Amino acid sequence: MDRQTGSKPIEDFNFLDPAVLDDPFEYYAALHEQVPVYKMPETGMYIIAGYDDLRKVLLDTKTFSNNMDGYGMLQGENWKVHQEILEARGWPDLPTLNFTDPPAHTRYRRIADTIFNAKRIAALSGRIEQLCHAMIDRFIERGECEFVSEFAFPLVGTIISEQLGLESDQMAQFKKWGEAIMAPTSRVMTIEELRENADTIVEMQHFIAGKLEERRKEPREDLITALVSARTDDGEELNMLELQSLMRQFLSGTYESVVTMISHGMLILLRNPDVMARLRADISRVPDFVEEALRYDSPVPGLARLVTCDTQVGGVDIPAGSIVMTRYAAANRDPAKFKCPHKFDIDRNNKAHLAFGNGPHFCVGRALARRELNMAFTALLCRMNDIELARPLPDIIHIPHVLLRPMKELPIRFTKIDAS
Ligand code: HEM
Repeated sequence: MDRQTGSKPIEDFNFLDPAVLDDPFEYYAALHEQVPVYKMPETGMYIIAGYDDLRKVLLDTKTFSNNMDGYGMLQGENWKVHQEILEARGWPDLPTLNFTDPPAHTRYRRIADTIFNAKRIAALSGRIEQLCHAMIDRFIERGECEFVSEFAFPLVGTIISEQLGLESDQMAQFKKWGEAIMAPTSRVMTIEELRENADTIVEMQHFIAGKLEERRKEPREDLITALVSARTDDGEELNMLELQSLMRQFLSGTYESVVTMISHGMLILLRNPDVMARLRADISRVPDFVEEALRYDSPVPGLARLVTCDTQVGGVDIPAGSIVMTRYAAANRDPAKFKCPHKFDIDRNNKAHLAFGNGPHFCVGRALARRELNMAFTALLCRMNDIELARPLPDIIHIPHVLLRPMKELPIRFTKIDAS
């Protein structure tokens, strides 16, 4: 169904209200109808909701800079405490990749592109498929599972842990670290919480330093070895600050986004039984389903840019020093770009969605993400029939988050498909 909005004025929404973060699509539609570039009173940031406007912002790295403290953005002065702990006991933040602009960005981006190259991702396929089935094996006989914690998280967690040299019994550790990286971007934290958060990051940094050292001595066929062996265009090795910064981005990039997309993908199937039936009839359509799911409920709804000079977007003046929120999820529902944008339609030509961003910071892990998603849904649909919700979902199904969209839980039941 293509949901229409009422004429609720944009001022009547509070973007930070957990109910709006949980189901932001009416808010996005109001933005499109009334004010596609809007200074949000709750945050002081300018949200960019229009597709064309957002593309312009993403491509103009001189005016819209990534050179900002991406993790500490919401924490104000208190962030200094966090940084002091990292400096004293671990490695302080160094801007690389997503926190830099070209040309500095280009130096790191070339390395990241080499690490996540098509050949390496293709070589992971067999293992990804094996892991999808291994996760399903654990609950298939039970006829039910909590999908987020029993499938999406352990699948993504195991794939990246293996690549980063964590043992499978350290998964809880990995979850804790992944959450700690992103926690300061989700809400304003107290000083005590920031101290605890910094302690966790320091613990992770020492683990990573140890693994980097191990791989330097004994290289393996994994991502962490590729990173430690990488050389810049000048033939230089990356130093420990650069390596720590990149590893943190790879960990945070891969973790929440893919877990969320797998969870949302299942929810979309449950809410659209006709789509599930079509995929069962023709499993080769799974990649079209995945692409439409990325557009329809983008798992990284928005990130941010710092405005370097007075400018205008969509006719709205934005002064230097402002922060704009690049709202990929809203642009992907822009009716000026996508016909009936609130309809889930696997037949639409939506290859131009912005779920992975665009321009120089276009997601470096997108080939890996697509492969994980395609393989996960193929395996699930081939092994499980009659999938349905095991119990009604609560009113609010996401953990409130400004930049991400983690689902709390998704209890499902199903019947087993006999392999014959
Ligand atoms: C469905 C899954 C994913 C989604 C929706 C997603 C989304 C995004 C988006 C929107 C950006 C652009 C950021 C910007 O405009 O500043 C981005 C960048 C990035 N992503 Fe992903 N991502 C996903 C999976 C992954 C995976 C698996 C990795 C693996 C490490 C990853 C690593 C990164 C990194 C390192 C960047 C920064 C690239 C740069 O600044 O040049 N992402 N991602």
